[in-house]
Amino acid sequence: MDARPFRSSAPEAPLHGRIAVPGDKSISHRALMFAGLAVGETRIEGLLEGEDVLRTAHAMRALGAEVTREAGGIWHVWGRGIGGLVEPADVLDMGNSGTAARLLAGVLASHPLFSVMTGDASLRGRPMRRVTEPLAQCGARFAGREGGRLPLAIEGTGEALPIEYRLPVASAQVKSALLLAGLNARGRTRIEEPVATRDHTEAMLRHFGAAVRSEGVGAGRAIELDGQPELIAADVAVPGDPSSAAFPVVAALLVPGSRLVVEGVGLNPLRTGLFATLREMGADLAASGERVAGGEPVGDLAARHSALRGVDIAPERVPSMVDEFPVLAVAAACATGVTRMRGLGELRVKESDRLAATAALLACNGVRVEVEGDDLLVHGCGGAPAGGGLVRTHMDHRLAMSALVLGMASRDAVRVDDAAFIDTSFPGFVTLMNALGAAIAAEADVGERGAAWRDAGARDAEERG
Ligand code: S3P
Repeated sequence: MDARPFRSSAPEAPLHGRIAVPGDKSISHRALMFAGLAVGETRIEGLLEGEDVLRTAHAMRALGAEVTREAGGIWHVWGRGIGGLVEPADVLDMGNSGTAARLLAGVLASHPLFSVMTGDASLRGRPMRRVTEPLAQCGARFAGREGGRLPLAIEGTGEALPIEYRLPVASAQVKSALLLAGLNARGRTRIEEPVATRDHTEAMLRHFGAAVRSEGVGAGRAIELDGQPELIAADVAVPGDPSSAAFPVVAALLVPGSRLVVEGVGLNPLRTGLFATLREMGADLAASGERVAGGEPVGDLAARHSALRGVDIAPERVPSMVDEFPVLAVAAACATGVTRMRGLGELRVKESDRLAATAALLACNGVRVEVEGDDLLVHGCGGAPAGGGLVRTHMDHRLAMSALVLGMASRDAVRVDDAAFIDTSFPGFVTLMNALGAAIAAEADVGERGAAWRDAGARDAEERG
């Protein structure tokens, strides 16, 4: 795939409009997988048609589910029932998607099938042992590269034992993988998480008829699932992705005079840490029309340009905004005072090392940043940062979108080496932002530095960590 360099400059007029963002990525993956494990036909509305989710659709087809697209965002899945998946004839390529790879590893662990999973250079560099180690408790066997990385061979079991596990890190992906393995285990699976993480898996399993209980345990939660339920097909309405809404919302807060409404955004409290933080920074950001759709809270978000001030973010908030730190760091760069984001260790194992890459994104645009252990400190410019930098995006969609938002608020244009990965989560991002008034354009060439990064990119991504 060729790199697609882009540049973003300060818009000539404020951003204005009412928009909807694509469907939630986490919920879209789950809808396809759970529907593939259910009995009957599930209709999914609002499915994210980004690269990551299309990989999951492809994998579910390879595992025997019938998956068809009726129209934009409307998909149908005829499931095979728990334990009913078939052996895939070829390697499953999960592209850039950690969620697809980890959740599917859980599904495959408790099916008596052999499979091999791979992904792009970014995904092949990400840790898988965090799921394969606990999943081995059910009787599945895994063989991967050094550090347990992809490509990964999986020998699932048809007689899975239920898993009891306390997560060492707050990860909804690991929690979900273990619960999915538990679907085809005889007995009760019990997972404890140190801090509550997004609960889309629990909510959707209940929606499909599984018995899932959760209760608070200290600062975290314990989740129990009774194995071998019959999952019954149930229609799913996917809300707009709050992690995608984050980009236009922050852009509207930063570009003087802007007013924006994002309709139908998922407002699950375990996902809305960014919006709470922005309000604490002084953002004029309000939710209205709150309702429940498909078991998930949804509403419309209105954002207006606001003067922001730096804040201190506690580590306990990280899981509810784990994907939003790059764009929060951009907001912090334009605020007055210092923003300290604490406990960002998990950012090192996302699509890129987002802690280092976010610091570099800001630094090359004239913003003072420090990484202290797992903390990121951003010294706000109290207005427009200098900009003018060329940002290296490391195959990471959220870095690319964050840099393009920074360009809208900076004195000089910000360039990115490659915006192609935006399609993994937010197809149409550039068109949508430009319709609001942004000035984002393709760049013919970012010169030798961009070419050198592209050549080094795959190797760097795989060798990280
Ligand atoms: C996700 C969980 C998060 C998040 C990812 C999607 C999910 O990862 O970063 O984009 O859908 O469960 P972790 O749970 O590993 O932090």
